Amino acid sequence: MRILTISGSLRAVSSNSAALRAVELLAPPGVEVLAWRGLDTLPHFNPDLDGELAPATPPAVLELRREVGECAAIFISSPEYAHGVPGSLKNALDWLVSCAEFPDKPVALINTAPHASHAQAALAETLVTMSARLVREACVTLPLAGRKLDGAGIAADAELAATLRGAIAGLLSVAAKREAGAAG
Ligand SMILES: Cc1cc2nc3c(=O)[nH]c(=O)nc-3n(C[C@H](O)[C@H](O)[C@H](O)COP(=O)(O)O)c2cc1C
Repeated sequence: MRILTISGSLRAVSSNSAALRAVELLAPPGVEVLAWRGLDTLPHFNPDLDGELAPATPPAVLELRREVGECAAIFISSPEYAHGVPGSLKNALDWLVSCAEFPDKPVALINTAPHASHAQAALAETLVTMSARLVREACVTLPLAGRKLDGAGIAADAELAATLRGAIAGLLSVAAKREAGAAG
């Protein structure tokens, strides 16, 4: 089973990307965690570039949709900018609105800043509108602000690791039931 991770931050030393790296380190055996790093390669969303009348959907968009289609579940971890979702992440989600791969996909959110709630709420609203299966019991907050931890540091912290292990288990459980339902 594969989990795709999407960080909403393009910063080289990002707490959100570090949290997702920790997900990679903490995932149980047999679960592949793949980080999607194409956020800054996508063109600005334009419906004219997509759909039946478009000459060709941009390759970076097709690649994102392929990765979404091939994973069983998605973790998104995103900073809050000006009380909203970073434009680059919203752009990626806009490219997924009309695709066949995204609806019903189990998705969980990680929030690395407990004081930031606007972006998380906006993300949840967008994802539900896009017909994602938002797994609320697997959405977690990690108090990482000011701690300068990388993925290994997060995974080595007993409390943070326990929170992430619980989130991973919750997301995988929903993904496994969905796949069993599809198979049966
Ligand atoms: C332009 C900008 C706007 C921000 N706006 C907010 C905000 O509205 N609320 C908030 O809690 N943090 C805000 N922050 C702080 C970031 O969300 C915070 O530093 C976050 O942890 C960065 O994530 P990263 O380490 O993954 O890049 C802002 C940061 C920047 C650069």
